[in-house]
Amino acid sequence: MNPNLRGMRPYLPAPRLAGVISLDANESPFDLPGSIRKKFLRKIRTLVFNRYPDGPSTELRGAVGKRLGLRPDWIVAGNGSDELIGCLIDALVSPGETVVVPDPTFVMYERLARIRGARVVKLPLGEDFDLTERFLDRKLLNTARLWFFAYPNNPTANCFSEKILREILRRARGIVVIDEAYVDFSGRTFLPLLRKYPNLVILRTFSKALGIALGRVGLALAHPNVTSLLNVVRLPYNLSGLGQALAMTTLASDHALRKNIRTILAERDKLLRRLRSSPNLRPCRTDANFVLVRAPNPKKLFEFLRARGILVKIFSEPRLASHVRITVGRPEEMRKLARSLDQLEKTRWRA
Ligand SMILES: Cc1ncc(COP(=O)(O)O)c(C=O)c1O
Repeated sequence: MNPNLRGMRPYLPAPRLAGVISLDANESPFDLPGSIRKKFLRKIRTLVFNRYPDGPSTELRGAVGKRLGLRPDWIVAGNGSDELIGCLIDALVSPGETVVVPDPTFVMYERLARIRGARVVKLPLGEDFDLTERFLDRKLLNTARLWFFAYPNNPTANCFSEKILREILRRARGIVVIDEAYVDFSGRTFLPLLRKYPNLVILRTFSKALGIALGRVGLALAHPNVTSLLNVVRLPYNLSGLGQALAMTTLASDHALRKNIRTILAERDKLLRRLRSSPNLRPCRTDANFVLVRAPNPKKLFEFLRARGILVKIFSEPRLASHVRITVGRPEEMRKLARSLDQLEKTRWRA
């Protein structure tokens, strides 16, 4: 056994059950629109099934590059951004070298770094879940090989201080990853800085606002010095032909998804108002399609909602023991959530 795996268990996401309102994984609550679905099915008919797919996802990288104003050699496509997180560690970090992550953040950074034998330094976020001066520690800036920042952060939902992130980018000798999985909700991106900072890597995903989590498609955007290393470590056919075709079709018609994003943001604001009106619940600031909420008894809240067919996310780590994370759902799902919260507040659930 690889000793790095000691104490680790499989990461088993909650299954998606029919009839259950899944507000626990920050996905889009809207299934693919019929118009895009039809185009995808037409495209499937033209695929060659007995041959391997295009290994470097050439067509997809070309289409993305056109959109973002990047040459294709600045782009690597992956089997979800999860895969690219692993590739970044494989490409840039030797066992025992340091990877820095904020605490709390998206768990895959630490998990994939540990599997690969990296030393993970978890720096606590401040009271408001923002970065602190501790992230500007000179020794870390000089020695860490890789830094991960989700922007907005998951599970806290806020965008970190841009000033501190820029300072880290300017001073870090290692590579700084800004994971923009929720960029369509925050409207904030480091993309314009990509040419200025050769140590910047931006991650994007098709799993959130673009609504094709099923397809497992992610992107890394970086200087060719970095993408060429990612291409050494990624598997030759890392992204399936179906995933590439689905991503191409979705990208070509993504105007059809803009309305969904607007609806999610409007529902999020309604949810915030509902939560703020509660004497017991305290929502944190959000720049994403989910909200971290301080609650007196998260386990009870979770069970109460689950009994009504609504799944939210609770956490085992001590810093988040008093929080639940709620992903914004469709309007009718949010109405059911609001009704359930009303019922909950009539009980003695705080105890
Ligand atoms: C910050 C962040 N990055 C990456 C991912 C995973 O994205 P993908 O589906 O592309 O692997 C998630 C999913 O929850 C996330 O929250």
